[in-house]
Amino acid sequence: MAVREVKESGVGKSSIVLRFVSDSFKGALESTIGASFMTKRLEVGDVSYQFQIWDTAGQEKYRSLAPMYYRGASAAIIVYDITREATYRTVKDWVRELKRNCTADMVIAIAGNKSDLNDLREVRARDAEEYAQSIGALFIETSALSAVNVPHLFTAIAEGLPPE
Ligand code: GTP
Ligand code: MG
Repeated sequence: MAVREVKESGVGKSSIVLRFVSDSFKGALESTIGASFMTKRLEVGDVSYQFQIWDTAGQEKYRSLAPMYYRGASAAIIVYDITREATYRTVKDWVRELKRNCTADMVIAIAGNKSDLNDLREVRARDAEEYAQSIGALFIETSALSAVNVPHLFTAIAEGLPPE
């Protein structure tokens, strides 16, 4: 049986959520079916944030479900894999889609994941950073494996949210 590489699958969305919610990493995580939901409380300074996170499925066959999960959300994280240029190219499509369907106060964060695999890097951090700046998004490179910048990603989002 031929296994087709699915370009937006496997960038590490579920791994980032797992790292944030339970500070753990599973080497053989199953590809997400549909979406999964998790919550996590995070204290930033004096303020407590209750994150309600939809972890969407990257496989193309679930693509049409995405609006159900991002509509009405306060923030969205677009994740690509720094070792696969093809996954970075889809980031712009997601930004366009979010800008079209969501309100202007939604916080958009772009996360370049797998920063532990720097030797295999195909996407320069500077390019992603410049692009993120040009559209008013947060940018951060993360590693769900080594935990680098995962808490920071969510703290930065919390700090970018409009006050209640
Ligand atoms: P879909 O649910 O199919 O959309 O994939 P996903 O984006 O949720 O990716 P997932 O978290 O399932 O991770 C895919 C693969 O990448 C797994 O084998 C993970 O172990 C691996 N992975 C995830 N994050 C990292 C990371 O930061 N570094 C490295 N080296 N591997 C990672
Ligand atoms: Mg997943």
